Amino acid sequence: MKALVLSGGSGTRLRPVSHSLPKQLVPLANQPLLAHVLRGVRDLGITEVGMVVPAGTAQIEKTLGDGSRHGVTITYLPQDAPRGLAHAVAIARVYLDDEDFLLHLGDNLLPDGLGDPAAEFRRRRAAAHLLVQKVTDPRPYGVVELDRIGRVTRLVEKPRRPRSDLALVGACFLTPVVHQAIEAIRPGPRGELELTDAVQWLVDQGVVVHASEYAGYWRDIADSDDVLAANRHLLAGVEPVRDGDVDPFSVLGPRVRVEHGARVVRSRVDGPAIIGAGSVIDGSHLGPYTSIGPGCVVRDSDVSSTVVLDEARICGVRRLVDSLVGRAVTIERGDPRRGCRVVCGDDARVEIPG
Ligand code: G1P
Repeated sequence: MKALVLSGGSGTRLRPVSHSLPKQLVPLANQPLLAHVLRGVRDLGITEVGMVVPAGTAQIEKTLGDGSRHGVTITYLPQDAPRGLAHAVAIARVYLDDEDFLLHLGDNLLPDGLGDPAAEFRRRRAAAHLLVQKVTDPRPYGVVELDRIGRVTRLVEKPRRPRSDLALVGACFLTPVVHQAIEAIRPGPRGELELTDAVQWLVDQGVVVHASEYAGYWRDIADSDDVLAANRHLLAGVEPVRDGDVDPFSVLGPRVRVEHGARVVRSRVDGPAIIGAGSVIDGSHLGPYTSIGPGCVVRDSDVSSTVVLDEARICGVRRLVDSLVGRAVTIERGDPRRGCRVVCGDDARVEIPG
């Protein structure tokens, strides 16, 4: 079986970070989101991965290369514009070569893996096997209605008045009949070819589509709150590693990973936390659920529950919480008599304590 990973979307809700970084590469526990996706794919024994990426940009290719570091072989399939999930599957039709496949959205984190649903797909042999999870507000998702034995009776994309609380998770197992369904449908109200419409078409033809409730952790990474929540979840399982230097005046909690070449000087790191390769933490406190990317400097500062991307500098900042700090950003203490000074890029968001 092959996997098709869809990474063509534009990530508007993760601006400004997504202006320069595809959201599928946002780091969670200091690994790009797609590295977590590929781990789940490879753990199923799938090594051939088709990756739909936006045409004309090479960032995902540059980061993941041929996939060998992740134990897979990646074939890149450019998509000219985000025209919907079903459109992305249509692009991959030749690559998929009339085989069953795992479809995985590149912005969905499923760190507990897909072993159980894969086994159920093999056992039940439906034309499509979807994953669903109960959510309190299903309106931003595909919403699925099931009969008593787990067969899909109805699917609606982002309904205003959902008729069930089962949201469609961004991974499913499909058989080649889906290509016929995609040929039959037309773009939906948001102008995209929706996968939900293709699957509904199958249901309307009397084809059996199954769904199972996914029991593991699932997060669709759409905005900065999703990044922080998913990062918190992954850090809770971090193993202590000391690949960098920790001076004798520093105190580290039990779940702290200090990556290669990092230095911790006169600091307290409560953890769970990760300090990226080559970063310096000096005279600072890192509170729980903090990820510091590679090549950063945190000096005389207090940072908690925050994700900091590569090469950022945080100096003299008394209390930074629940924040997402982009690449090479500088946050430093200024002259209190002048007030706050910011140089923010497009779509940045700054909250200043009143
Ligand atoms: C897409 C699908 C939706 C699904 C969701 C899961 O939505 O269209 O059915 O529930 O992924 O992440 P989008 O992320 O494109 O809004």
